[in-house]
Amino acid sequence: LIGSGNVATHLGIELHQAGHRISHVFSRDINHAKDLAEKLQATPTNNLNDLDQQSDLILICIADTAINEVAELITFEPILIAHTSGSIPISALSKFKNRGVFYPLQTFTKGRFISLRNVPFCIEAESISNKKTLKDLASQISEQVIEMNSSDRKQCHLAAVFANNFTNHMYSLAEQLLYKKKIPFEILKPLILETAKKIEQMSPIDAQTGPASRNDTVVIKEHLKQLESDKLEKLYSFVSNSIRDLTESKKASKL
Ligand SMILES: NC(=O)c1ccc[n+]([C@@H]2O[C@H](COP(=O)([O-])OP(=O)(O)OC[C@H]3O[C@@H](n4cnc5c(N)ncnc54)[C@H](OP(=O)(O)O)[C@@H]3O)[C@@H](O)[C@H]2O)c1
Repeated sequence: LIGSGNVATHLGIELHQAGHRISHVFSRDINHAKDLAEKLQATPTNNLNDLDQQSDLILICIADTAINEVAELITFEPILIAHTSGSIPISALSKFKNRGVFYPLQTFTKGRFISLRNVPFCIEAESISNKKTLKDLASQISEQVIEMNSSDRKQCHLAAVFANNFTNHMYSLAEQLLYKKKIPFEILKPLILETAKKIEQMSPIDAQTGPASRNDTVVIKEHLKQLESDKLEKLYSFVSNSIRDLTESKKASKL
C-alpha cells in the first residue's frame, strides 16, 4: 500500500478485513506509515525499495500530483500496480507492464468509516488477467464493480466534483451565513438530508425548488442585498442563473 491518507486507510482496512495480507505501508513520513501499518499488521516504511516485489498488487493511494513522481521512483517490475485516482489516466503508470486503476467513487475522510459495499469501484486494466484480478479484488469489498476507461472515469470525477465537493462547499457557506445570526447549522440538516434522499426517486432537475427555479426576481434581489459580500453576490447570481437556465430549457423541451 503506497500512501497512508484517507483512501489508503479505508481500502487498507477493508482489504485486511477481507483476509488480504498487506505486507507494507509506504509513506514519506514514517510516522504516518506506522499509524496505518499498525492497524493492518503490516510493515511501515518510507523507502520504496523496501516494498515486497512479490506482492500480488501495489496499490498507489497518494495525492494525484505525486503519482507520476512516485511511479518513477519504483525501480522494479511489480506483478501488478494500480492507482486509485479518478482524474489520472492509466497511462501515468505506463512504465509498468502490468498496470491498472482501482478507483472508488466515494468521498473518504480519515476518522469517518463507511462501508464500501455500495461504493462503485471503477476498474481499468489493459490485459484480461489484470482486469480480472482487480475486479475480483473489488468484488470482495463492494457490490458495485464497473469497468471504465480513463476518459469516462475522468468525466465521472468531474461530475463528482459538482455533486459532492461543490455541494459541500455550499454547506460551508450556509454554515457561515447562519453563524452571523448565531443560528446553529443543525437547523439545515433535515433540509440537506431530504434534498439528497429525493434524488433516489426523481431526477435532480425535477427536484429543483427555490427562487431561481421560479424566477422570483424580487426574492433574488433581496438575497443579493442581504449578502454584503461581492464574492458571494457573484456566486449567488452565477448559480441562480444556471438554475434558471436549466429550468427554462427543461420547460422548453417539454413544450
Ligand atoms: N479522498 C477521497 O474522497 C478520494 C476518493 C476517491 C479517490 N481518491 C484518490 O485517492 C488518492 C489518495 O487520496 P487521499 O484522499 O487518500 O489523499 P490524502 O488523504 O490527502 O493522502 C495523501 C497521501 O499522499 C501522500 N503524498 C502526497 N504527496 C506525496 C509525494 N510527493 N510523494 C509521496 N507521497 C505523497 C501523502 O503522504 P504523507 O503522509 O507522507 O504526506 C499521503 O499518504 C488520490 O489519487 C485521490 O484522487 C480520493
